Amino acid sequence: ALIKHFAKKLIAWHGVDGRQGLPWQSVRDPYAVWVSEIMLQQTQVATVLERYPRFMKRFPTIKKLAAAPLDDVLAEWAGLGYYTRARNLHACAKQVVEAFGGKFPSDTILLEQLKGIGRSTAGAIAAFAFHERAPILDANVKRILARLFGIEGTIQEKAVNDQLWLLAKKLLPNNAADMPVYTQALMDFGATWCTSRKPVCLTGIKRCPFAKDCQANLSDQVLVLPRKVIK
Ligand code: ADE
Repeated sequence: ALIKHFAKKLIAWHGVDGRQGLPWQSVRDPYAVWVSEIMLQQTQVATVLERYPRFMKRFPTIKKLAAAPLDDVLAEWAGLGYYTRARNLHACAKQVVEAFGGKFPSDTILLEQLKGIGRSTAGAIAAFAFHERAPILDANVKRILARLFGIEGTIQEKAVNDQLWLLAKKLLPNNAADMPVYTQALMDFGATWCTSRKPVCLTGIKRCPFAKDCQANLSDQVLVLPRKVIK
C-alpha cells in the first residue's frame, strides 16, 4: 500500500507543510529550472533566494549565457562556491546552443550527457520543466527511501544504488502533470522533515504521514539508516 499511495500522500503533505512560493517553483522554462537546480545543489536555499534573481537578470537566456565570456559567468558566481558549477554551466550552455539550438532536450538520456548534469539533476529538469515521469535520487531522497523501506546496505554499494533508483521509479505519480509538485515535495520532505539528524518523527511531533509505513520508524532505526560507511 505504501508504494501505491506514496505520491498522493507526499503531495498532500506538501500542500500543508512543504515550502511554498520559492521563485524557481513557478518557472517551467527549462533554462530557468536548470540554473536553479545547479545553484541549489551545493548552496543553501536562503543564499539562492538572494542570488538566483540576479543571475537570471544578468543572463536572461541560455544564448546570452553561452555567448558571455567565462570570466563574466565566474564573476557573477562569486560567493556561491564550488566554481566548477559555473564552468560547467557555461560549457553546458554552449553545448545546448550548439547541439540543440538553445533548447534543452526533455529526454533524461540526453540531459545526462550535458556538462554538470548528473542522473538526478537530469530527472529534476525533466520533471520540473517537461513534466516527464523521471525520478530524482539525491542524498535526501536516498535517505527517505532507505528509511521507508528499511534498506540496510550502504548507499555506496552499487546494488543498493540500483535498488534505490528502481524504488524511486516505482513511487512516481501516475499522472505526469503531478511531476513538478511531486518532485518538489520529495526535495522539501528530505530537506525539512526526514532530515539526517533531527527527523520530525523523533521530535515528538507525531505528524509524519509515513510513520506507520516507515520500516526505520517501526524498528527504531531512523537515526542509523541509511547506514554510513565506516572509513
Ligand atoms: N535542492 C535542489 N533542488 C531544489 C529545489 N527545487 N528546491 C529546493 N531545494 C532544492
